[in-house]
This record gives sequence, structure tokens and C-alpha cells, in this order.
Amino acid sequence: MIRHGRHPIAAALAALLATAPGLAHAGDSAHGEVIARRWCVNCHVVAPDQTTARSEAPPFATVARNWRDDKALANFLADPHPKMPNWGLSRKEIDDIVAYIRSLDPNPPPPAQQPGGKDEGPPKKG
Ligand code: HEC
Repeated sequence: MIRHGRHPIAAALAALLATAPGLAHAGDSAHGEVIARRWCVNCHVVAPDQTTARSEAPPFATVARNWRDDKALANFLADPHPKMPNWGLSRKEIDDIVAYIRSLDPNPPPPAQQPGGKDEGPPKKG
């Protein structure tokens, strides 16, 4: 049987980690997940436990593999996708989402293993 709900100590630890001021210099992946589940979930598979999404929007796990460069990814997210009605992400929110997407990549391959030698993600649009 799988029980729902977290172990209380694990939950407390997670809360502690999420709010630890020393870790706040980069994107906050926990907050990124909150944003992703609110804003991106209608079209993308944003978490491993999600089963449905639009087929033309790549899952975030794929995004994590395709976009090696956090800055390029952040720049992509600074502009709305063509199909997005209300896109108002702050720079901080973008950093958080990038950190979250990065956390979905279980073992990023070393750049030397890239066959084509291109590691900057898909070409920029517009
Ligand atoms: C209305 C549907 C929709 C929503 C909501 C949406 N996306 Fe997308 N997204 C798409 C589609 C469709 C594509 C692929 C086609 C394109 O690039 O326009 C895409 C592409 C992307 C890509 C590029 C993937 C690649 O490898 O080319 C990224 C990164 C991305 N989305 C991130 C996000 C994030 C982060 C959010 C939430 C803040 C989000 N999207 C919300 C529909 C959506």
C-alpha cells in the first residue's frame, strides 16, 4: 500500500531547506515547482507524476536534457511562448523555474558526450 502524505520529519526538513536563506542565491526549485504546477501544467508535463499534457509541448524532463545552458533557457522564458495568453513571469520566477527544470535532470551527461557538439539548446525563435 502506498500511503498519501509525507513523513512529518521529511516535510519539516523540506520546509527548512526551501526557506534556508543561505540557499537563496540561485533559483529556488521548490518555488519553481509551485509556479510550474500553476502556470505550465496545462500544456507541459512538469513533474514525473503527471500523466497528461498537450502533445506538442515537451515535458520538462526533456527540456532539462535539451537545454544545457541555464541562461539560454531563462532568456527563452523571458518572452512568452506564441500560444501563451497571460505571461508575466518575473526574473526571479524564471530563475526558480530554471532551477526546478534543472532538478528534473537526474544525471546530466558531460558536454563531451554530446555527438553534435551543440550544447546551447534549440535555436532561438523570434
Ligand atoms: C498554452 C500552453 C503552454 C503553456 C501554459 C506553457 N507552455 Fe511551454 N510550450 C508550449 C508549446 C506548444 C511548446 C512547443 C512549441 C513552441 O516552442 O512554441 C512549448 C515550449 C516550451 C519550451 C521550449 C522547449 C524546447 O525544447 O523547445 C520551454 C522551455 C517551455 N515551453 C517552458 C514553459 C514554462 C516554464 C511554462 C510555465 C511558466 C510553460 N512553458 C507554459 C505550450 C505551453
